[in-house]
Amino acid sequence: MCGIVGYIGSRPASPIIIQGLKRLEYRGYDSAGIALYAKGTVNLYKTLGKVAELETLNDFAAASQCIGMGHTRWATHGIPSNANAHPHTSSSGELVLVHNGIIENYDALKRVLVKKGYTFQSDTDTEVLVNLIEDVQKTHNYKLGKAVQMALTQVTGAYAIVVFDTKKPNELVVAKLGSPLAIGIGDREFFIASDASPFIQFTNKAIYLEDHQMAILKQGKKPKIKNIKDGLVIDYYLQELELNLEQMEKGGYDHFMIKEIFEQPHAIKNTYRGRLLVDQSFIKMAGLEDHLEKLNNANRIIIVACGTSWHAALVAEYTFEDLARIPVEVEYASEFRYRNPIIAEKDVVIAISQSGETADTLAAIKLAKSRGAFVFGVCNVVGSSIARETHAGAYTHAGPEIGVASTKAFTTQVTVLTLIALRLAIFKGNISNSDFKHHLHELEMIPEKVEKALESDAQIKVIADIYKNSANCLYLGRGYNFPVALEGALKLKEISYIHAEGYPAAEMKHGPIALIDEHMPVIVIATKKGHYDKVVSNIQEIKARKGKIIAIVTEGDVDIRELSDHVIEVPETLEALTPLLTTIPLQLLSYHIAVLLGKNVDQPRNLAKSVTVE
Ligand code: G6P
Repeated sequence: MCGIVGYIGSRPASPIIIQGLKRLEYRGYDSAGIALYAKGTVNLYKTLGKVAELETLNDFAAASQCIGMGHTRWATHGIPSNANAHPHTSSSGELVLVHNGIIENYDALKRVLVKKGYTFQSDTDTEVLVNLIEDVQKTHNYKLGKAVQMALTQVTGAYAIVVFDTKKPNELVVAKLGSPLAIGIGDREFFIASDASPFIQFTNKAIYLEDHQMAILKQGKKPKIKNIKDGLVIDYYLQELELNLEQMEKGGYDHFMIKEIFEQPHAIKNTYRGRLLVDQSFIKMAGLEDHLEKLNNANRIIIVACGTSWHAALVAEYTFEDLARIPVEVEYASEFRYRNPIIAEKDVVIAISQSGETADTLAAIKLAKSRGAFVFGVCNVVGSSIARETHAGAYTHAGPEIGVASTKAFTTQVTVLTLIALRLAIFKGNISNSDFKHHLHELEMIPEKVEKALESDAQIKVIADIYKNSANCLYLGRGYNFPVALEGALKLKEISYIHAEGYPAAEMKHGPIALIDEHMPVIVIATKKGHYDKVVSNIQEIKARKGKIIAIVTEGDVDIRELSDHVIEVPETLEALTPLLTTIPLQLLSYHIAVLLGKNVDQPRNLAKSVTVE
């Protein structure tokens, strides 16, 4: 986690860095800092909290320095505080550094440096790194680039860093291992950031550093990319970016989260555009076609993911087993990577990640690859680490998701996974042509139906107002909608800090039913398709214990209306596609409760969007 930004060129650096940090706040917002260099002096400004606080420390708009770096922090080593905020300087004050990642052997390195007389102002691993670089530089009289390279060979852990040397003020040195780092290439200027969003308005040309690579960036010169392990200069690939600025802004909405919820019809259409060929009764996915045999012959598919992506994986478990008849196991990436999993030759691993940077998912992929598995990625962020690490994959094309609570990433992941399951089902001959066509047709209709589901927004706001002060909340669903119940509960927890549990409806009687009384709202997904009668029985059980029932039902359902305190309707669709609709009211409910409680919806406490630490 943490976001880093750097600039070297002829424009004033501070507006670029401040704006860039704001775009990266999804990566953490415990503290913020900026270092600006001019005429032999580095000016450092740091604050606890967000970039908006940082802006109150100085008139950055008037600052004319053309070299600088900034940082927005998600605390790992050391509490959020001014002292622990980046940028950090070396003991002599000559080197300045920002860092995203964790230096795992910082303690051992620190002890050696302390013996040599280095002093430390913070508890961070980053301050150890900047002093290590200084020590290597001073001991061997190295230039900055060489000192960074040699110092990094002593480091274990993960990093994306920007380093500046006041003795060499026309260059920035950057390096990457594990954490992402993009270099925007302008006209005689360089922009550095954790992703391209901070510089997209200035240039659409970027170099994404690979692991074990560093770059020496001198104003007006070509970037020099080196391999950290041997110091040799290597070629680089200049990528043309497709992002645009509009996608990075709220566009009239109060929060990114609600913008992203309402973007879902369009996002889902983008996901299946060019892939879902209803007229030809065909699904065409470039990343999948060449590997169909592998998936077809797979003994089983193991899906690894974290958070909301893990919930999308659970939906896929139903779809793949139901439609394509391939056994699926869904694993938390963090558990998979540490439990010596059995991976057979014919197993296929699918890794799902919105950001494409989640450390645990990345590590799970590397483990699966090392054991010979074929790994297929489902990512949103183009060019992300996971997209590059997997053998093949499919992008979700959801556009940037900025709200920390994931919304459109979930529905577009489910869309991609459904396309894959259907493609495999027809390839394997496990679905009839007419059933296949029916699914394609219904999938094509989903954006329109999501649009319809979004019309309940005002009604949901009223319900949110009634239940906003609840201490607990239970979410129930069965079959395809069990993962939706988990996702609904996660959304509420994340942004409103109300304790919420998702459960398979039938499991309620094995524990959660003990919690039900007249104060407990229970959100039940009870659409017509899929175990309807059983869910109705569960609703009866809740009602008998005076629980408050908010039911998500199929349009026109009258039976459940009689039993429930509130019903929210979604259009009818095929069972496998219901998660794409039932999840919408749950997103809206969480959003409105959090807004009514005055919570920071887009940047909930303690969370970050891109989790690049274990
Ligand atoms: C964090 C985010 C979640 C996300 C999860 C996995 O916890 O706050 O919204 O679902 O990471 O992220 P990924 O980018 O791998 O999907």
